[in-house]
Amino acid sequence: MTQRQILVTSALPYANGHIHIGHLVEYVQTDIWVRFQKLRGHRCIYICADDTHGTAIMIRAQSEGISEEELLERMREAHIEDFARFEIEFDNYGSTNSPENRAVCEEIWAAIRKAGLVHEKEVTQLYDAQAGTFLADRFVKGTCPFCGLENQYGDSCDNGHTYSPADLKDPVSTLSGTTPEVRSATHLFIEIEQLHDFLAEWTQSGEHLQPEVANYLKGHFLHEPLRDWDISRPAPYFGFEIPDSPGNYWYVWFDAPIGYIGSTRQWCDRQGENFDDWWRSDKTEIHHFIGKDITYFHTLFWPAMLKTAGYSLPAKVHIHGFLTVDGEKMSKSKGTFIRAATYLAHLDPSYLRYYYASKLSPRVDDLDLNLEEFVAKVNADLVGNIVNLASRTAKFAHKTGLAETYPDDGGLFAQAAADGEQIAEAYDACDYNRAMRMILSAGDRANQFIDKAAPWLLNKDPEKERQLRDVCTIGLNLFRQLAVYLAPVLPRLARQTGELLGEPITCWDQSKTPLLGREVKPFEHMLTRVKPEQVQAMVDESREELAAPVPAAKWNDSDEALNAEPLAAEISFDDFVKVDLRVARITDAKDVPEAKKLLQLTLSFGGDVTRSVFAGIKGVYEPEALVGRLVICAANLAPRKMKFGVSEGMILASGTGGQEIYLIAPDAGAKPGQRVH
Ligand code: MSP
Repeated sequence: MTQRQILVTSALPYANGHIHIGHLVEYVQTDIWVRFQKLRGHRCIYICADDTHGTAIMIRAQSEGISEEELLERMREAHIEDFARFEIEFDNYGSTNSPENRAVCEEIWAAIRKAGLVHEKEVTQLYDAQAGTFLADRFVKGTCPFCGLENQYGDSCDNGHTYSPADLKDPVSTLSGTTPEVRSATHLFIEIEQLHDFLAEWTQSGEHLQPEVANYLKGHFLHEPLRDWDISRPAPYFGFEIPDSPGNYWYVWFDAPIGYIGSTRQWCDRQGENFDDWWRSDKTEIHHFIGKDITYFHTLFWPAMLKTAGYSLPAKVHIHGFLTVDGEKMSKSKGTFIRAATYLAHLDPSYLRYYYASKLSPRVDDLDLNLEEFVAKVNADLVGNIVNLASRTAKFAHKTGLAETYPDDGGLFAQAAADGEQIAEAYDACDYNRAMRMILSAGDRANQFIDKAAPWLLNKDPEKERQLRDVCTIGLNLFRQLAVYLAPVLPRLARQTGELLGEPITCWDQSKTPLLGREVKPFEHMLTRVKPEQVQAMVDESREELAAPVPAAKWNDSDEALNAEPLAAEISFDDFVKVDLRVARITDAKDVPEAKKLLQLTLSFGGDVTRSVFAGIKGVYEPEALVGRLVICAANLAPRKMKFGVSEGMILASGTGGQEIYLIAPDAGAKPGQRVH
């Protein structure tokens, strides 16, 4: 077999959030592939980095009162720790904010400029004057201009309409709660259309992309001229300033993929490797692993940038689907948005590595973590099948040692050794599900052999020591074959097996020759069963209460205000329902400068129905903090003419006035316009 030289990457996780089990689909998938290639004897390196630039980091650092660099350092440590505990082993974990990355960005930029692909255009964008920044799409919320759905992000609504943030109705900045202004600024654009022919050929060649991805690109992008790519952002922006365009910064998606190269450069410098061998030579295959949400950047812009700057193109971009939990999107309120660290507080990382492996295929389909199935699968496949082989034989083998010659096992070892090539093909094709099925079948056959041979009975008869040794020799060698095949998925199990048998697992071909004539160490537990309670505890810890009820322990009679004001005289139900109480969203809140206590609020009841209401809450609530929140409004009160205008309703609050005012809000999930019964 000729040795391949392979450079592998996973997408660079954003530095503004923690690693969660959704991310882990990708990092586990990639790590398995890399470990597999290394086990097969190929030269393979795994490169990753934190993706550090952009508005989100800048805003978060500001809100925490620390520098961006401090925030990055903290997140980097957390990411590295989570990955290490999941046995995800990078050869280099860099940062897009590194000097190496800046240098590569400048070089690629110069090449793109030289190729005549850059031009300037005026862009109108929403600007938050209070926060002093242009707003990225995700920092604006408002009403969809197409369907009127409220509280939607600046780029697309939950009904699937896409638009520009400047077209949103009633836009509100999520940074300050103020209404953003429309401002224009000069942006730099890359005319990617100039590379249309190259991209059509590269994406449709059948070599680099999964067929469904190639079809998607053809149907969605390549059937018409490619749109120019806006790659700059005006200051303030946390990123690299564009050398020949002062005051403008590269948009995060320009320098993020270049981070693959910057991080490789770090590795090369540390290892004394020739950089060009890895990024500018046919010697190396480059494989990117990414999620389906970032297909567009990796299959159109990235190859275009690489091509223009004379770098190697990816041999393959492997795209996976998204994780759902129990058939639904991960949800904070349901406790299924699970951080890596929370998982690790309750469960063994090997379980998840194996579960994902058993679900992953070469297709882009989404993948479901069904929590009940997770428990059943881990217990049946890993503990009941694979580890069971070792635990039922190793304890006797410690006494007998392994036989000098391999006993007759009816062809089991030879069959599993022959399966090795097909299992390897499945791994190489990212068809881990198929690889796991083949490994489990071999495990089933081996377990049937042990069931019949019953070493626990042989152990009771001193006359049968030789037979016992033969059975254990077979059982442990069949187990070791599986530990080799599973080593990419379960590196710890491979290490434990190596220790048990006194020879570390380091290469695939160890599955072809049995180990003989040696001692076996005392058996130590390799993996325990998962208990459903552990899974439940993890979900409970991940659940975030959206509306926090007052804890019972905090109730205190002296806090109760009831005695201060006796209950009003009884009314009939009919009287009560005359008041039309509605959920409303405050879409605007303004000070009434001439009034001591009043704020003027605009309330939305969904659709186009709005009301203007004056509320005596000045000094207790800041107008900006009110925008976006839900309140309850008495909506059918006769309009009341006041000195400063007409009030068309009343919002509900408790308290005695002065500073003692508490707005009444519905629980999360309530929608503007709903009636309160
Ligand atoms: N920073 C960008 C990638 C830049 S690559 C030059 C990014 N970061 S991310 O943190 O949002 O996601 C990192 C990877 O994890 C992406 O490939 C993304 O598709 C994947 N996943 C994030 N959430 C996921 C799920 N819920 N399920 C499966 N994969 C998920 O995108």
